[in-house]
Amino acid sequence: MNKFIVFNFKMTPSSLAKAKEIFCIFKKFSQKIKPNKIIIAPPYVYLTEALNVFEKECSLGAQDVFWFNRNSATGEISPKMLKSLGVEYVIIGHSERREYFNETNEIINSKIKACISNNLTPILCIGEKNRKKRDSSSSFRIKKILFEQLNYALRGVILKSSSDLIITYEPVWAVGADKSEDLEEAQKVINLIRFWLARRFSEKIAENMHILYGGSVNSQNIIPFLSLKEINGVLVGRASTNKTELTRLFKKLAIRLG
Ligand code: PGA
Repeated sequence: MNKFIVFNFKMTPSSLAKAKEIFCIFKKFSQKIKPNKIIIAPPYVYLTEALNVFEKECSLGAQDVFWFNRNSATGEISPKMLKSLGVEYVIIGHSERREYFNETNEIINSKIKACISNNLTPILCIGEKNRKKRDSSSSFRIKKILFEQLNYALRGVILKSSSDLIITYEPVWAVGADKSEDLEEAQKVINLIRFWLARRFSEKIAENMHILYGGSVNSQNIIPFLSLKEINGVLVGRASTNKTELTRLFKKLAIRLG
């Protein structure tokens, strides 16, 4: 299975001029790692520029969306607007949105449904908040949290194929942190998510769906994560708009995946 690498720019960079410089780095390297897929999710205000810069090298994602196409929602962006612009993916349920904007599981569920019915692919983020010592009770705790998030987020969701949805396992404590999750642990959790998907949808969907890891992915650890068969890609946060780190990361990718 080809790997997906999602770049979540978060609320950076601080100007369009800087965004253009970063897009140049993507433009330079993205062809070198085909057939793996690059999805960039810059802030809304830089989406049009990204569309001008990229032809087919990178797919475009948004960092959020409103859950209706109705007109009276001041400050929001509708699924239809994103679709008409050429956006294909939307990050939904990121831990920063759950924390700062009180996004509930119900809201996340509505956003997932809105994406799917407007032919946008949601990238659903799930993960536990706290890191505890790994033992059998903590594995049970993580499983309970993740299955609950999946149950809520995907309630009533109908998938026609495995490519209608992407799931990212992002332990919240590893997002914006110094250290990522251990490879083995990430692999175990991703297997659990696949098990849940097989029961809720079908084995075929579970086997073929892209399930990614996110949380402090950088030039040092991206290759080990991408080398694991069970992990179908990564979501990169801070490194997306740090020019030095991004270049280092792409150089490694080009050697390993190119
Ligand atoms: P990070 O962010 O790579 O900076 O930890 C990950 C994310 O945006 O989820």
